[in-house]
Amino acid sequence: MTKYIIKGGRPLYGTVEISGAKNAAVAIIPAAMLVDGVCRIENIPQISDVTMLLNILRRLGARVRTVDRHTMDIDCSGVRTFKADFDIMTKIRASYYLIGALLGRFGKAKVAMPGGCNFGAVRPIDQHVKGFIAMGADVEVKNGLVSATARDGRLHGADIYLDVASVGATINIMLAAVFARGVTRIENVAREPHIVDVANFLNAMGADIRGAGTNVIKIRGVDRLNGGSYALIPDQIEAGTYMAAVAGAGGSLLIKNIIPKHMDCITGKLEEMGVHVEEGEDEMLVSRSGSLRRINLKTLPYPGFPTDMQPQMATVLCLARGTSVITEGVWDTRYKYVDELMKMGASITVDGRKAIIEGVGELTGANVKAWDLRAGAAMVIAGLCAQGTTEIEGVNYIERGYEDLVEKLRAVGADIESVEIPENDGAEIVKIG
Ligand code: EPU
Repeated sequence: MTKYIIKGGRPLYGTVEISGAKNAAVAIIPAAMLVDGVCRIENIPQISDVTMLLNILRRLGARVRTVDRHTMDIDCSGVRTFKADFDIMTKIRASYYLIGALLGRFGKAKVAMPGGCNFGAVRPIDQHVKGFIAMGADVEVKNGLVSATARDGRLHGADIYLDVASVGATINIMLAAVFARGVTRIENVAREPHIVDVANFLNAMGADIRGAGTNVIKIRGVDRLNGGSYALIPDQIEAGTYMAAVAGAGGSLLIKNIIPKHMDCITGKLEEMGVHVEEGEDEMLVSRSGSLRRINLKTLPYPGFPTDMQPQMATVLCLARGTSVITEGVWDTRYKYVDELMKMGASITVDGRKAIIEGVGELTGANVKAWDLRAGAAMVIAGLCAQGTTEIEGVNYIERGYEDLVEKLRAVGADIESVEIPENDGAEIVKIG
């Protein structure tokens, strides 16, 4: 079992380089399934969700070649099967993109139901299914498998209105529609930066997709996509997590390789709390020396405040003066981490989608658990801010989405280490990073 041990109370100073966007990578890697030829994808983050997806592609018959640590050549032209029913599929949420990709390519797909972070509620895919059906597919969910078959062998264009602006449904329908006969028009789509990235990737390979980043996406079906190169955008949430870390721990961080426009929703809220942010072209300097002010915050689809930053912000707000209210506007519930923060001295009341946070001025180190990826990031921030030592279990969740988190934090002055504790002997500790 791996744990992080953090000795908190040290401000952060220095430079952090942001990696490629996880949620773009986990969509663009399955999207390579639609391409006839080699896709060179650059700026791929080294995280376990990516490793799992590349393994899934290999098992389907794709050739994956590592060019360097962040660049892969993916060639799916040899894939002959539409069945992705392996156990590993259930470990990762983004495996659902293989439904759209395989259905688009072969006119049929048989894919294990996705897994991924569990916020305490079932994560539905009804909007994905609605889109596939509108494009002429029969879809059945049975025995943990989603089977989709285009009635005429190939999907056709359709007008689809999403009941919720779902990131996953927007991308999945876009993937299925790339080769559909005619035009597919999706309304009330999500507008997250990684949706634009997926559309740009597909267009770079020869697709005809317009409107990504607005409320309506139009896809004119093409017959073929050819190989090419594409570099992923930087990770908005990784950058936001380091911004929150310096807001909480104090100090000054130069955060490099970002798109400042993507950060606006986060920057605005941190400034309201008294954090100083100076934007450059592809970097920002974030510093905090004085006390933090309370705020209210509601998570919403982009360009609203991202739900994937909610646990990290809640942690920082524990240190602000006064009472803050967070409203979770995307997921029914995403507050499993609150009990862990309470062990560290936080004062938070959860009432449905709202969390009421009384600023406590100081957190204290404790043994806590990462319940999911962003809850884990919140625990790390809490550990950095707290007086004393924090031990975090369940860091495998964190490593699904943050490249080199321990190394990046150590380089800016954090006292954090990753230790391997043998399952049956908690006494012996082996340092691994
Ligand atoms: N929803 C439906 N029906 C659907 C799909 C979604 O009702 O068919 C609802 C969900 O229950 C939720 C809302 O719509 O209430 C938004 O869900 P969405 O489909 O947008 O989420 P997702 O595609 O499953 C992605 C990210 C999540 C992020 C959400 C929201 C990936 C792999 N995951 O999930 O990221 O929280 O969008 O922005 O892109 C993370 O990175 O930590 C993470 C969980």
